[in-house]
Amino acid sequence: MEPNEAIHVESLFSIKGKTAVITGGSRGIGLMIARGFLESGAKVYISSRKKDVCDAVAAELSKVGECVSVPADVSTLDGCKHLAQQIAASENKLHILVNNAGAVWFAPIAEYTEAGWDKVIDTNVKSTFFLTRELLPLLEKAGTPDDPARVINVGSIDGIKAPFLETFAYPASKAAVHHMTRDLAVKFAGRNITVNAIAPGPFPSQMTKWMLEHYQKQIEKSCPLRRIGNSSDMAGVAIYLASRAGAYVNGVVIPVDGGICIS
Ligand SMILES: NC(=O)c1ccc[n+]([C@@H]2O[C@H](COP(=O)([O-])OP(=O)(O)OC[C@H]3O[C@@H](n4cnc5c(N)ncnc54)[C@H](OP(=O)(O)O)[C@@H]3O)[C@@H](O)[C@H]2O)c1
Repeated sequence: MEPNEAIHVESLFSIKGKTAVITGGSRGIGLMIARGFLESGAKVYISSRKKDVCDAVAAELSKVGECVSVPADVSTLDGCKHLAQQIAASENKLHILVNNAGAVWFAPIAEYTEAGWDKVIDTNVKSTFFLTRELLPLLEKAGTPDDPARVINVGSIDGIKAPFLETFAYPASKAAVHHMTRDLAVKFAGRNITVNAIAPGPFPSQMTKWMLEHYQKQIEKSCPLRRIGNSSDMAGVAIYLASRAGAYVNGVVIPVDGGICIS
């Protein structure tokens, strides 16, 4: 491409016609990304454990664009296989995978249970690895050198800087997601698949409800932009990474946190 070649900016951020899978798409950050993708003209599969909720959210989102519910528990290999098989039954390729489903566990260190630790690691780390692996054949079929398939992992700023709450397994899990992102980005580049991560700061969701009820003012004060994130902030970065505009971005972790990480 020559420096003065037309860029076609009108389609630079388009994901129209692409197919995406978003785990944890039934609420919070996953729902924000699903809504953004649908408004941009993508077909979106949302997945979460609670079938009735997942079905109801997909039905509601179908007013915006084509949205399909595929309930699954991605914290187990069987759950990841089930989800990948469901997608393969109706799609012959997949352009975008968003590994967003996540869990947190709060407890003082002496009371931190093995079950809590395993839940966090399995939901945040194991799921990302195995679901990506199970969907590789479909991702590989969608990717081209100019427009690779995209894996977008949802990490956290807690995987970059130590959080103030006692969530021990959580920051460890998110640092693992960030480094898995770099590792898989290198491993999959030859297959025309990029792997990047979004590291959100504070966004309103069920996961952060208690924290924001107790600490929102303190969090806003610690944020250079003096606010928490919203749906457009999250959808914007995900659409960028999924579109032609993000085609040459590979193996990065993008904090979306109003500058909390660097202050
Ligand atoms: N909100 C924030 O401020 C923030 C900040 C940094 C990072 N994050 C990350 O962003 C992601 C989304 O978090 P959120 O705040 O939106 O949390 P949330 O409101 O609790 O939503 C979590 C979503 O994941 C699904 N889920 C949980 N466990 C699952 C499993 N085993 N299998 C399949 N789906 C599962 C939930 O549905 P079911 O319960 O029905 O399964 C739900 O759809 C997480 O990875 C989180 O760590 C969030």
